[in-house]
Amino acid sequence: FGRHLNLMEVTSSTQEAARLLAEEGAPEGTLVIAEEQTGGRGRQGKRWYSPARKGIWMSLLLRPQRPLSFAPQLTLLTAVAVCRAIRKVTGVDAGIKWPNDLLVQGKKICGILIESVGEDERIKYCIAGIGIDVNVELEELPTELHTVATSLKIESGQTQSRATLISAVMNELEQLYNLYEEEGFAPIRHLWEALSVTLGKRVTVKTPRGETEGTAEALDETGALVLLDDTGNIITIFSGDVQLA
Ligand code: BTN
Repeated sequence: FGRHLNLMEVTSSTQEAARLLAEEGAPEGTLVIAEEQTGGRGRQGKRWYSPARKGIWMSLLLRPQRPLSFAPQLTLLTAVAVCRAIRKVTGVDAGIKWPNDLLVQGKKICGILIESVGEDERIKYCIAGIGIDVNVELEELPTELHTVATSLKIESGQTQSRATLISAVMNELEQLYNLYEEEGFAPIRHLWEALSVTLGKRVTVKTPRGETEGTAEALDETGALVLLDDTGNIITIFSGDVQLA
């Protein structure tokens, strides 16, 4: 992964740049990296703060031979890969909040946005967008992010090499993706569970249908989050926004 590299100084969002390449037939593993994004996008239509040279703003093109319903598993796989790379390279103790936010001491350090395009119920391609706050200083973060976000520099006390991190993320992703293609989701699920900061905690999940509260019990074999609510009911959450209590 990452051998077909497109490095951009500034773009609105690497997701769009990668999508254009995908439509033109670019091969799996094509990577778009931008020094700065002017219209970085997060999940649920949120903006993603992407200042020049302070972080890793990149999108990877995947072409998995799977039905569209498998796309959420790629989200979890990507979170595991980035989490392992961050721990190996920086020693920062990042964990995964379901499905794919990376947190350090409860603050967000990385966001992942997976966008899948289907054709006849199968995945035509998938754009895995990864945003890592690498060398952003606390004073540089917009005020509304002070209590909810952090960076690898803030957490480790030193400037981190973006190039080293990018290549570590690509290595981890390629290895896990091959494992997934060969053995399916089971091994990825176990790695995810070991890095999770969600399991065993009380959580509130916001979905389009309302809020659910309960204890996060497990990740099921599809990648959905299994909650046990206060009346003892088991609730399976396929998508939503999790808040840790
Ligand atoms: C989230 O946590 O809400 C997901 C954030 C994803 C941000 C990355 S940065 C690279 C790629 N380009 C974007 O516009 N978004 C993703």
